[in-house]
Amino acid sequence: MKTLTFTMKSSRAVTAAVGRNMSGIPALFPALFAAADKICLVTDGGAPKSLKARALALFPPGRTGHYFYELPPSEKAKTLEQAGKLCAFLFTKGFSRNSLLIAAGGGAATDLTGFAASIYMRGIRWISVPTTFLAQIDAGLGGKTAVNLSGAKNIAGTFHQPALVVCDTAFLDSLPHAELRAGAGELAKYAMIGPGRLRRTIERDLAKTLAGDRAALTACVTACAAFKLRTTARDERDETGLREALNFGHTAGHAFEAMAAGRLAHGAAVARGLRFALLVSARTGRLAAGAFDKLNALITALRLPPPPAIRWNFGKFMALVSKDKKARGAENRFILITAPGRLAAAENIKPAVLKQAFHGALK
Ligand SMILES: NC(=O)c1ccc[n+]([C@@H]2O[C@H](COP(=O)([O-])OP(=O)(O)OC[C@H]3O[C@@H](n4cnc5c(N)ncnc54)[C@H](O)[C@@H]3O)[C@@H](O)[C@H]2O)c1
Repeated sequence: MKTLTFTMKSSRAVTAAVGRNMSGIPALFPALFAAADKICLVTDGGAPKSLKARALALFPPGRTGHYFYELPPSEKAKTLEQAGKLCAFLFTKGFSRNSLLIAAGGGAATDLTGFAASIYMRGIRWISVPTTFLAQIDAGLGGKTAVNLSGAKNIAGTFHQPALVVCDTAFLDSLPHAELRAGAGELAKYAMIGPGRLRRTIERDLAKTLAGDRAALTACVTACAAFKLRTTARDERDETGLREALNFGHTAGHAFEAMAAGRLAHGAAVARGLRFALLVSARTGRLAAGAFDKLNALITALRLPPPPAIRWNFGKFMALVSKDKKARGAENRFILITAPGRLAAAENIKPAVLKQAFHGALK
């Protein structure tokens, strides 16, 4: 097990325990658990039963005051209504400001539970236990919580750091291959935006990770979790532009995901969003052809399935990207790349360039 601790700008330290088959977590972080009068384990109702069984090990042995709450599966959990229902459950069970939530599930479950933890009694502590590859390298870390609104992703949300993140790659044993591959979309992103060392780790381990190699998965989770926490520590509230790099590929990715209405996994949508961002970067002269080929090969290596057969309407795509919260009032705003590890925001890109990239990303 590796323990990663980073101190945020707010001076709050955030710790992630990363490894495989970790045991005795409550004993390793006694203060966190001892301070909790009640603990609720929140899980994704669509996840296999083995997930809940494994997550139960996070309850301190021999203590009472444990509760369970099951969310609707996956993205269906990420609504204001579901956040309200969870808060109402906590209230009826007598949860106080000293209580603790443990979110065990994919990014949808950690986003929703973190959001509920941030608003319940103006904020209670929570532990993030990401159980998908994508959530272990990205969504479960960093303290951004959110729900979706009016068909758009993550429109209402908060910053609320988990008191602890537990990334146990043994959870990934039950993950369907499609979810592993979807998570690898975010992995490709890290190879594009991260420093050389991270890029080399991912390039070395990408194929093995996709094949489910346990050592490669744990190595990638450890390296990416450290990078995400380090970036978050330097720009916790997304104010200086540093953290914005983590959104590379996400503006188009979120639009693809919203247009597909549940038929395109977040990570797969992000992978297509990355290709879109590479194409726009190249066609606007920011990214040289050689670098484009090198980075594009990372997406090709993911062997993405064809996009779902829906009507991919460019007009709707443009409406979604203009409403993206990252647009900040511009007609459109994208994070583009000029070289591996070097990103820059660009606004008001010509629709003709975007249209070509839109079709190129959905090939
Ligand atoms: N907060 C952030 O910084 C951040 C960053 C990236 C993505 N996100 C959000 O994360 C979400 C995507 O996360 P995701 O890809 O984990 O999707 P998800 O939460 O929808 O989970 C994907 C599927 O995997 C299942 N599952 C979860 N754990 C499992 C396991 N161990 N074994 C088998 N099945 C399992 C779930 O039931 C679900 O069907 C999106 O809502 C996205 O917006 C948030």
